[in-house]
Amino acid sequence: MDKIGIFFGTDTGRTRLVAKQIAKKLGEVAAAPVNIGRTTLADFLAHDRLIVGSPTLGEGELPGESTGLSQPSWEELLPQLADADLSGKTVAIFGLGDQQKYPDEFVDAIGILHDAFVARGANVVGRWPVAGYEFKASRAVDGDHFLGLAIDQHHQAMLSESRIDAWLEQIKPELLR
Ligand SMILES: Cc1cc2nc3c(=O)[nH]c(=O)nc-3n(C[C@H](O)[C@H](O)[C@H](O)COP(=O)(O)O)c2cc1C
Repeated sequence: MDKIGIFFGTDTGRTRLVAKQIAKKLGEVAAAPVNIGRTTLADFLAHDRLIVGSPTLGEGELPGESTGLSQPSWEELLPQLADADLSGKTVAIFGLGDQQKYPDEFVDAIGILHDAFVARGANVVGRWPVAGYEFKASRAVDGDHFLGLAIDQHHQAMLSESRIDAWLEQIKPELLR
């Protein structure tokens, strides 16, 4: 079985740290986390099981040139995926955001990535309850769940590790089967 690919975008490094934490917890079944702006489409597509992470930047946007990043990120990768067939791939998404400063766009990037992967046929797993967060609106919500794991390192950093642990236990059976 190939290793679980872990790919992240980041501005100030928090998402990278969470990606590294996830990789460490998964152990040898996971590949080392890779910045999505420093890889090739072929390397990304080489994995059938993926964990992808992103902060939300701008006003509910993916990281990339339009949010002021000096290197490519998810904003630049997604158009490259336009013709890709992701059926057969299982993808779990985590996202970092700030629920107090951006209560109307909290972790929107999870929703943007979710829609892009689903549209290309991927099986997206890892929904996470909205209970315990305080925000007004998010593209990442469907009913009473986020479409991936929401992490707020600004206001709920103390909860992050237990959230990551519980989420990994939830997605492991789906990623490892
Ligand atoms: C300019 C700017 C815009 C942001 N916009 C949002 C947003 O729309 N929604 C949100 O949940 N968080 C938003 N954030 C918060 C970031 O997602 C948060 O700081 C995150 O931890 C950054 O992760 P990184 O260190 O991997 O870049 C914004 C932060 C900055 C600096």
